[in-house]
Amino acid sequence: MDFDDVKGDIVSVVVTPEQISEGLARMAREIERDLDGRKPLLIGVLKGAVMVMADLARELTIPLEIDWMAVSSYGRSTKSSGVVRIVKDLDTSLDGRDVIIVEDIVDSGLTLSWLLENFASRGAASLRVATLLRKPDAMAVDVPIDYLGFDIPNEFVVGYGLDFDERYRNLRGVGVLNPAVYREGH
Ligand code: IMP
Repeated sequence: MDFDDVKGDIVSVVVTPEQISEGLARMAREIERDLDGRKPLLIGVLKGAVMVMADLARELTIPLEIDWMAVSSYGRSTKSSGVVRIVKDLDTSLDGRDVIIVEDIVDSGLTLSWLLENFASRGAASLRVATLLRKPDAMAVDVPIDYLGFDIPNEFVVGYGLDFDERYRNLRGVGVLNPAVYREGH
C-alpha cells in the first residue's frame, strides 16, 4: 500500500520508496566491496526485516545465504522492554560463517546488542550489521552498525516491515504514525 491508502494515519513521510531503493543500493555496494568471494549468511530478524531482506538480498550481486531469527517484540506497546526471547532460532550453524545481521530499525539497540553477543558465542568468523533505519537513542548504547540506510528522528514510525499492532507492514515507504492511532487502539 501507498501513503495515500492510509491518509490521516501518517503525519509525515520519513523515507519514500525511492529513497529506500537508493539506500539499499548504496548498502549493497558496500557489502559487495567488503565480502567479495566470501558468501555471507544474511540473518533477518522477523518480522520487521522481511522487506529489507527481500530487497537488499536481490540488490546484492554476490552469492549469499539467508536465515531467520524471531525474537519477542513490542506487542502493542511503542516502547522497547529490553527483554529478548528467542521465538524461532536459526536453522544454520554459524561456525566459520561471515554473518550480516539484517535489521529494519535499531532503536534502543537492546535487541541488536543481545543478538551480537549471542551470535559471537556461536563461532561466527565475522559479524556485521546492516540496518535500513537508525534512531538517535541507538548511539547511546554504542551498537556498531556497518551498513546504514538512514538516520531518522526519534519518533514511532511504521511501514516497510515496521508495524503498529501488526498493521502498516505492507506500506511501501516509512512514515510517522499519528499518535491518535495508538491512543484509540484498533
Ligand atoms: P530496539 O529498541 O533497538 O531493541 O528495537 C527493537 C525492535 O523494536 C525493532 O526491531 C522494531 O521491531 C521495533 N521498533 C523500534 N522502533 C520502532 C518504530 O519506530 N516503529 C515500529 N517498530 C519499532
